[in-house]
This record gives sequence, structure tokens and C-alpha cells, in this order.
Amino acid sequence: MTVNRKIEQWLASHKSTQASAKRPFVTLSYAQSWDGSITTRTGETLALSGTEATRLTHQLRSLHDGILVGVGTVLSDDPQLTVRDWAGSNPQPIVLDSRLRMPSTARLCQHSEKGCWVLTNLNEGGEFGSQVEIITLAGDVDGRVNLPDALSLLWKKGIRMLMVEGGSQVITAFLKAQLADALVLTIAPTLVGGYKGVGNLGISCKTQLPQIRPLYSQMLGDDLIMWGDLQYQQQVES
Ligand SMILES: NC(=O)c1ccc[n+]([C@@H]2O[C@H](COP(=O)([O-])OP(=O)(O)OC[C@H]3O[C@@H](n4cnc5c(N)ncnc54)[C@H](OP(=O)(O)O)[C@@H]3O)[C@@H](O)[C@H]2O)c1
Repeated sequence: MTVNRKIEQWLASHKSTQASAKRPFVTLSYAQSWDGSITTRTGETLALSGTEATRLTHQLRSLHDGILVGVGTVLSDDPQLTVRDWAGSNPQPIVLDSRLRMPSTARLCQHSEKGCWVLTNLNEGGEFGSQVEIITLAGDVDGRVNLPDALSLLWKKGIRMLMVEGGSQVITAFLKAQLADALVLTIAPTLVGGYKGVGNLGISCKTQLPQIRPLYSQMLGDDLIMWGDLQYQQQVES
């Protein structure tokens, strides 16, 4: 069976598993080098995935209702977050942007089919067109968008499966809050020595390390695809 089919079946088995929590199932998905970098230290856009892994990413997007990135990724990559290399529907684009730093010229603001949802802490600001829906939420202790509140809101708006594509600060925040349920990782055969995908999780002992179980892996072109469920052991003090 192809890796595309295996991951599709695995994700299908997770549908609606968060019904009691009333929040979407969250899949982290990103590409890194062998040394764990998702980009260079200076944050240049770096297409790490090969052609087939890129197609898998687009397939994954089509299997989720929503796709979320942080404003840092919008500012550096100006992504479209659409399904182009796979036949399927576009997910709802969502940006975490506490201070409305996203420029109105961003490609996500021009999305012709689904207007971008921008989750922010501000009550007003930003000059966006009708394509963009600004949603104000309470801030967390760090003055950023509160993730449990954000997920609860997305659930109410019909998002059941949410793909989180990055960048590092957002991936780290979801892991730290123990709100990521699954991980699909593309490992490209290169070394970057750059900006790591996972930052400080505040973990001080082995018993607190999140585990990936069961763990699956398969080569796709030159890339290694690893995927599995995230299992948390102990609540980490924030
Ligand atoms: N290799 C890959 O697969 C991949 C995928 C995606 C991105 N990237 C790379 O990652 C880099 C960007 O990563 P990044 O870490 O700088 O930025 P990021 O994670 O994309 O965005 C971080 C920003 O999101 C906002 N935010 C709002 N609420 C948040 C919350 N609860 N937790 C965390 N962030 C929150 C914060 O800005 P405010 O406080 O202003 O809201 C924060 O600065 C780019 O260079 C991009 O190329 C790589």
C-alpha cells in the first residue's frame, strides 16, 4: 500500500475522536532536515520536501477541514495553503496573529474560495478586504492567542480535523499545551544547521517527553515520512 493511502486510512480512523473535548483533532505536519531544521537561521523560505512529499502535504491538506499557521510563516513564506498537487478540497485557512501583523497583500488575503480566518487578540485594526474574517479571542499569559479558546471556537465553526503546518513557535505552542494529537513529519536528506521545528517544551525529565506511538515510517522519493499519534505522559508546568 502506498504511504498516501496508509496515512489517509490512519487519519480516517481518528475522525471525530475529539467529540467529547469539543475541539478539532490536531495534526502537526511539517518538513525538516536530518538535523531538525525547518528553515535557515535567517528564515529564508526553504522547500525541503521533494516532489512526492509535497504531493503528500497537499493530500493531507485535503483531508483536513482547516489549516493553521502562525503569522511568522505568513510574513516569511506568504503561503497559499491550498490543495494544488492533489485532487481534493481546500481546507479553511487560519492564521494565529495576536497583533494583526499579517499584511493585506498576503496571498491568504486573496484566497478566492475560502476567506482566511485571522485569530487575534485585538479588537480592531488591520485593513483587510471582505475575504478575511478577523476573530478576536482572549490572550494567553504570553499575550498570544489562547490555544484552547481558539480550538473551541474552531470546533463551533465546524472544524473537526485541523492541520497545523508551522512554523516553529506554533508547533512548539501546540506541543507544550498538549493540544497536538498526531504528527506527520517529512525528513529531507539534507543538513541545514538552521531554525529547529520544535523549540523549548519546558521539559526537565524523561517522563515528561511526548512519545509518538504507534509510529509508522516509509520512504517517499528521497524523503523519509514518519507519522504517528502523540502521547503525553505528564502535564508540564508552564
Ligand atoms: N519546513 C516547514 O515545513 C515549515 C512550515 C512552516 C513554516 N516554516 C518556517 O518557519 C518559519 C516561521 O516560524 P516562526 O516560528 O518564526 O513563526 P510561526 O510559528 O509561523 O508564527 C509565530 C507567530 O504566531 C503568532 N502567535 C499567535 N498566537 C500564538 C500562540 N498561541 N503560539 C505561538 N505563536 C502564536 C505570534 O505572533 P504574534 O504575537 O504577533 O501573534 C508568533 O510570533 C519561517 O521561516 C517558515 O519558512 C517551515
